[in-house]
Amino acid sequence: MTQSVKGMRDLWGTELAHFQFVERMCHQIMGAHGYQEIRTPIVESTDLFSRGVGSTTDIVNKEMYTFQDRSDRSLTLRPENTASVVRAIIQNKLLEGNDPLHLFYIGPMFRYERMQAGRYRQFWQIGAESIGVSSPESEVESIVMLFDFLASLGLADLSLSINSVGFPEERTSFYIALKAFVKAQEGAFCLDCQRRIEDNPLRVLDCKVPSCQMALTGHPEVLTFLSAESQSHHEKFQKCLQSSRIPFAVNPKMVRGLDYYTRTTFEVLSSDLGAQSALLGGGRYDRLIQDLGGPPTPAFGWALGFDRLVSLLMKKNTALPSKPRIFLIPLGDSMIEDAFQLVRPLWAAGHSIELETRGVALKKSLSTANRKGHSHAFILGEGEKAKDIITVKFLTTGEQEEWPLREISSRILKL
Ligand code: HAM
Repeated sequence: MTQSVKGMRDLWGTELAHFQFVERMCHQIMGAHGYQEIRTPIVESTDLFSRGVGSTTDIVNKEMYTFQDRSDRSLTLRPENTASVVRAIIQNKLLEGNDPLHLFYIGPMFRYERMQAGRYRQFWQIGAESIGVSSPESEVESIVMLFDFLASLGLADLSLSINSVGFPEERTSFYIALKAFVKAQEGAFCLDCQRRIEDNPLRVLDCKVPSCQMALTGHPEVLTFLSAESQSHHEKFQKCLQSSRIPFAVNPKMVRGLDYYTRTTFEVLSSDLGAQSALLGGGRYDRLIQDLGGPPTPAFGWALGFDRLVSLLMKKNTALPSKPRIFLIPLGDSMIEDAFQLVRPLWAAGHSIELETRGVALKKSLSTANRKGHSHAFILGEGEKAKDIITVKFLTTGEQEEWPLREISSRILKL
């Protein structure tokens, strides 16, 4: 039979319940911070990403799902969403008035990557973008929201790595120093890095090949080459993180794999994720909006690997808040109409009740309810109808109670 495409998977059951729980918390926390949701198309013109993400990045060079449509346009399944959000902001003139704009998104992204645990070709991201403010304080606001969000999911012990890559024009003398450093021991670097040092030297720093990482010991650090303004921005950012009690470490190698970053970059890692330890990453991108045809506008944001977040939650055995799951079993064909009448106001009140409509024997219905993980079976037969009650069977303990019909809704709330 036809299988799903390699690296793309179905979500259901417990894993999906975790996704849904995280989505609810995301709406709650980001809503509290004044962020609004934005939904952009999954398919965009290819040039949005080659211009936005950078034509020498791995994402654009090796990982995009690009195809020609029937009118011969080159289209790409979005590998990330910052470029799309920026396009949407410019196209829909969301920046008019110059007020700060706070947006978040949840959705699937596509990268043709080598398969590994925690790395998919269709994966989900939750992201937040704060547009129109250049201050380090706006960066910390976004990071505080992120940490509040992670804490609401029970994740409190994560490490934040920060760095600054300055503006492209500030990197010229850093590139000269880094090139000289790499050239002096060229053989120690992989062929990709030997090419990268010419096209896009920053990318050498985040090469994943272990021998390249070894060879980088003692490399020149971009931070030390930056202007006084960028250095002071970085210091203020650190001070503000400290006063917000967010622990962090400066990592001079962390330059991020996308080209649009200016000044602050950051990642959150988790040792529980193994080799693919980046749970999320982000930073400032003060030139992207202008580069994509909008007015010069500072911006800052991050995106989190949703699949990786859920795998962390499941590893930590985080219990999801759960409602009772009820299976309503009418006994025999004569009771199905009464069951409908009983259940419709309960559905309208938001209770989670699955109705047995097969008309099978009670024993079969009860074993279905057990197999499907229901917590309670509500049994409605002629006897119950005559007494205006329902029999409630607690499926985990086997205990049984009789409830007056008019009290059902209030009693479910107490379960
Ligand atoms: P990114 O670092 O490319 O940044 O991706 C963010 C996160 O998405 C990663 O830290 C990782 O958790 C997850 N991720 C990336 N690739 C995969 C994959 N193949 N499978 C599973 N998870 C993956 C961005 O995308 C930027 N747009 C972030 C940003 C927003 N910067 C500013 N605003």
